[in-house]
Amino acid sequence: MRRSSYPDNEVTTMNWQAFKLILPYLFEFKKRIAFALACLILTKVSSVYLPFILKDIVDTLDAKVPANMQTLVVPFGLVAAYGLVRLSIVIFAEVRDTLFGRVTERAIRRIGLKVFRHLHQLDLDFHLNRQTGGLSRDIDRGTSGISFLMRFMVFNIVPTLLEIVMVVTILFVNYGLWFALITLGSICTYIAYSVYATELRTRFVREANKADSSSNTRAIDSLLNYETVKYFTNEDYEAQAYDKQLANWEQAKIKNRLSLFALNGGQAFIIAMAMTAMLALAALNVSEGKMTLGDFVLINAFMMQLFMPLNFLGFVYREIKGSLANIENLFGLLDKTPKVEDALDASELNIGQASIVFNNIAFAYHQKRPIIKNISFKVNGGEKVAVVGESGSGKSTLVKLLFRFYNVNSGSITIDEQDISQVTQNSLRQHIGIVPQDTVLFNDTLFANVNYGNPDANFDQVMQAINMAHLTKFVASLPEGVDTIVGERGLKLSGGEKQRVAIARTILKNPQILVFDEATSSLDSHSEQAILTAINEVAQNRTSLVIAHRLSTIIDSDNIIVMSDGEIVEQGNHQQLLAMQGNYSKMWQLQQSAK
Ligand SMILES: Nc1ncnc2c1ncn2[C@@H]1O[C@H](COP(=O)(O)OP(=O)(O)OP(=O)(O)O)[C@@H](O)[C@H]1O
Ligand SMILES: [Mg+2]
Repeated sequence: MRRSSYPDNEVTTMNWQAFKLILPYLFEFKKRIAFALACLILTKVSSVYLPFILKDIVDTLDAKVPANMQTLVVPFGLVAAYGLVRLSIVIFAEVRDTLFGRVTERAIRRIGLKVFRHLHQLDLDFHLNRQTGGLSRDIDRGTSGISFLMRFMVFNIVPTLLEIVMVVTILFVNYGLWFALITLGSICTYIAYSVYATELRTRFVREANKADSSSNTRAIDSLLNYETVKYFTNEDYEAQAYDKQLANWEQAKIKNRLSLFALNGGQAFIIAMAMTAMLALAALNVSEGKMTLGDFVLINAFMMQLFMPLNFLGFVYREIKGSLANIENLFGLLDKTPKVEDALDASELNIGQASIVFNNIAFAYHQKRPIIKNISFKVNGGEKVAVVGESGSGKSTLVKLLFRFYNVNSGSITIDEQDISQVTQNSLRQHIGIVPQDTVLFNDTLFANVNYGNPDANFDQVMQAINMAHLTKFVASLPEGVDTIVGERGLKLSGGEKQRVAIARTILKNPQILVFDEATSSLDSHSEQAILTAINEVAQNRTSLVIAHRLSTIIDSDNIIVMSDGEIVEQGNHQQLLAMQGNYSKMWQLQQSAK
């Protein structure tokens, strides 16, 4: 089973590529970022200033001057200042986050849209191979990774480093070399240990993510196949398969947690050692009278203030690493190039008569298994040409090639003498309407699903299309009429109703070329006749390609192509083919006698 891919070579190195990728999105709001940075600096300056106020308070209280109104004013004034500075720290931080939130959200919106558009650009093959559950998890994790990276890179790592520099300098200037050295030394040890331990953990984090995607893939796939699960009463089988994935996830999480325990424990040990050493040194100085009690309190406050964000830094580093991997995964999706792309000098398809020529085409999904072998035929403008043949002979594949879901391996398909590989996919597809073999609908109202054929159509036009597809009676029987929700993939409609919705939306699209792939296969003979009449009305003056199993539906075709195993074995109109006494006439007799 294919799984979402995680770059495995990137275990020991921090990959900053992802950061570079999101940088352009940051610069969209230059002013906001400048203000946010200003708030950031104010926050940091205030928080470095705070311990000084604390020291002054303690020293004034400690001065043992007899209390009277005058001497009390100073410490209480200081206490008030302390409260004010504390408040301002919080307020500046809040303003900063509010300002910056907008930047992050805009970036997520832009990147989300880009990925979404890109996914629609990718070829059918990618989508047939994808795992919806895992893919959506990858996207989720990628966007939350961006949010995390932006917030913490700018507002945690950089300011914490700034704060460390300020505090170490202050300690050095005010209290001498030793205090500065112990602080710097412990911080370096702390950072080195955190980085080392986090690197070791990366493998476990990645395993847990992988397990998370896999179990989600499994759950979604199973739920999408709800009916099949019931048909075979395989609920237990499904539950076991899901539980197996969950067990993997649990295992991965256990390792993840144990390694987290080691990381946090080590960090706490380094902090405790550093705090003890600093406070012991300070206590010694106080007892020798070299420092005041206020100094002791100030040093304690600085250490707390430094190690708190530092502690956070370990977490942030780990998360950022994870985020980078997730973002890379997301951008990895953007790196996938579609197999079918517009030619550089692609022009718009210029449609006139809409005559289609399949010129000696060959095609294979897999190199080793040719599906279409040297097929040539022509559909003149305005003609109705049918393609018949046994199941698996490549009829639907022909349609996919005409719609350019895939490129042909050799030969060419032209519409009005323009090679479809040389025109834009968009203009090509605008002119072709397809009623596919398996119609899938959006989980929306019946009206919206028909309207999808041409979003610009007005109410009356949609209703007319519904009428032409012989849906009116069915709609009238629905309690909610055209506003009925059709269910996921249209599963609340019968096969024939779904087909008629597909026909209605193709009628609404009103293209010059019509393709019907078994468009009436799910209908009873009576409805089929009605629909065929409708199709013939719509197909008038248009070029149409009709794929059918039931030969009675195509006897009026201008030309009938009989396919077998990727090749054309016979062609001609109904009478000619019967006269040939070949494959077609055999199929015809078989179907006639079955009636
Ligand atoms: N995406 C794909 N990847 C690989 N093989 C494919 C793919 N799609 C179709 N095939 C194979 O190509 C062959 C032709 O398929 P196609 O759908 O064109 O048959 P068909 O003539 O329309 O059959 P039917 O009458 O049953 O609809 C089949 O054997 C099928 O297994
Ligand atoms: Mg088919």
